Amino acid sequence: MIGKENMNESAVSPASGPGFALVSLLEWYHDSGVDEILLENPVDRFADSAAKQTQTRHRQTAPASPAPRHELIPSTADTARDIAKQANDLSALRAAVASFEGCTLKNTAMNLVFGDGNPAADVMLVGEAPGADEDRQGRPFVGASGQLLDRMFASIGIDRNSIYLTNVLPWRPPGNRNPTPGEIAVCLPFLQQHIALVSPKILVLVGTVASKTLLRRDKEGILRLRGRWFTYQTEEGIEPIPVLPILHPAYLLRSPLQKGKTWQDLLQLKRKLSK
Ligand code: URA
Repeated sequence: MIGKENMNESAVSPASGPGFALVSLLEWYHDSGVDEILLENPVDRFADSAAKQTQTRHRQTAPASPAPRHELIPSTADTARDIAKQANDLSALRAAVASFEGCTLKNTAMNLVFGDGNPAADVMLVGEAPGADEDRQGRPFVGASGQLLDRMFASIGIDRNSIYLTNVLPWRPPGNRNPTPGEIAVCLPFLQQHIALVSPKILVLVGTVASKTLLRRDKEGILRLRGRWFTYQTEEGIEPIPVLPILHPAYLLRSPLQKGKTWQDLLQLKRKLSK
């Protein structure tokens, strides 16, 4: 990393010129881990949320006839569940997610990444969260790992128009950090309704986060879960959906020797589809 002293030296030295100073500043940002510039001016989100909390507190102490406690302070996940349940089709669900204010990832993301592919497909894929490319384009799995996923599915004769893709989180976590349990919990009702509306014949869970979230198997890692068939229950009385966890293509890009495992898993998927 370029030290502060170095940055000041290169940024203000008249001998080095304004272009050189700008390049040094950008290098310093890059080395400090800044990989996205979102807005012209910084926004103090902590001040925003503190102001909102103060307003909420004032609103809550004001009503003449107090409402039951759960109506005053509904948990955000409960609110998400109520909103999601009211969406009867994908465009209503998309609109509901787009107007949902309960997940702060929305504030830092450029775009909502809802879903892509064919909503009438037999196979629905659920990944973790959008990365930088997905965030820019508003579509899941369009970056390097998405392109590998496309090639892997093409190898069993399935293209993107014959599957449907979404993620556990519809907004990119800043800097591609791991999603927090709170973010997952608050977005889960939307994902559950998404699956219920698409109602696929087979659900493929791409990577650790999707597998652990939907299978609720915290103790087993993806290397133990992958390639095994599980079931996912959308609603009481509805036939459970067969589920196949697979390794995440981002992991395969880092560990190409593991690709053979995914090849075996995709052959299993193909066999199941041809039954
Ligand atoms: N990784 C994911 O899990 N989802 C995407 O959409 C892209 C990369």
